[in-house]
Amino acid sequence: MSGSRILGTGSALPRQIVTNADLAERVDTSDEWIVARTGIRQRHIAQSDETTASLAIAAARAALADAGVDAASIGLIVLATATPDNTFPATATKVQAALGCNGGVAFDVAAVCSGFLYALTVADSLLTTGTAKRALVIGAETFSRILDWEDRTTCVLFGDGAGAVVLEAPSAQHTGSDAPGILGSRLHADGAQHDLLYVDGGPSTTQTVGHVRMKGPEVFRHAVVNLSAVLREVIEEAGVSVDEIDWVVPHQANARILDATAKKLGIAPDKVILTVDRHANTSAASVPLALDVARKDGRIKSGDLVMLEAMGGGFTWGASLIRM
Ligand code: UT7
Repeated sequence: MSGSRILGTGSALPRQIVTNADLAERVDTSDEWIVARTGIRQRHIAQSDETTASLAIAAARAALADAGVDAASIGLIVLATATPDNTFPATATKVQAALGCNGGVAFDVAAVCSGFLYALTVADSLLTTGTAKRALVIGAETFSRILDWEDRTTCVLFGDGAGAVVLEAPSAQHTGSDAPGILGSRLHADGAQHDLLYVDGGPSTTQTVGHVRMKGPEVFRHAVVNLSAVLREVIEEAGVSVDEIDWVVPHQANARILDATAKKLGIAPDKVILTVDRHANTSAASVPLALDVARKDGRIKSGDLVMLEAMGGGFTWGASLIRM
């Protein structure tokens, strides 16, 4: 029997688009540098009336509509974010209240850019053990609120957004190698790499929110090595060959990381979903956003074998292989 099944996907982006040329008016950078080093051309930035919760709620509603299920059937909400509306309670509880499905389980997961992979794996486990029958798994961020807008090495890289999936518990109806569902997942963390990518503030240390700090080239090197390794682990666990994978939906940090990782594994570049050009790095939102884009534009179809993967601060990283 496969793991939990994805019934629908949805996403939401802030109204305002900020181009590389717009940023070049604020910091010493250029469209040429940003495109050549990252593949990013623009990002969406939240305005004052848009928050992580409001984007998450919009993405969740879109996912419920796509799945054709009622919010009342959702017994579990797992929301991945590093930019919650409040230090507590969890942003997931705000989503729950807005959808009117109070009474089930709702909590946030903090694993930064790999947050969606962590949230998906935790939700799949809880559905498998019977905590709920149906879940919303959401990645939502307003990273623009924790950027140092004077630091050109980080502020050009990120954007805001949200993506969500409706996940249903495994069922005996869905068995066999072609059955839809999660076929395998692996998560990792290496806390020794804390200082390569972190936020320099927090409630218990500085009593401030802080700003993103990153040693980009070192993160880049670790990303390619860690992602290739975890992809191989999941491929082996699921007992499939690389050629059987129809699509890879990676965390959208940098087009060069996507290319290098695909090349290392022998995956054709045209099987890799790329949204970093339009969304930049939306941290926990990037994987479900890219998944939704590729489903809605008709590339990812029912029955396709799809690999999700991400790596971020902690370090944390992970991958999931899913039959759609
Ligand atoms: O989502 C979590 C995971 N995050 C990532 O995966 C990010 C991983 N890292 C990266 O994507 C890349 O390392 C960056 C895009 C962050 C940087 O690209 P890079 O090719 O590694 O550039 P670099 O940091 O080595 O910088 C090269 C040069 C430097 O100038 P010098 O020292 O050669 O004179 C930087 O000061 O580019 C300069 N630079 C910029 N120039 C124009 C750095 N940022 C900018 C900028 N505009 N925005």
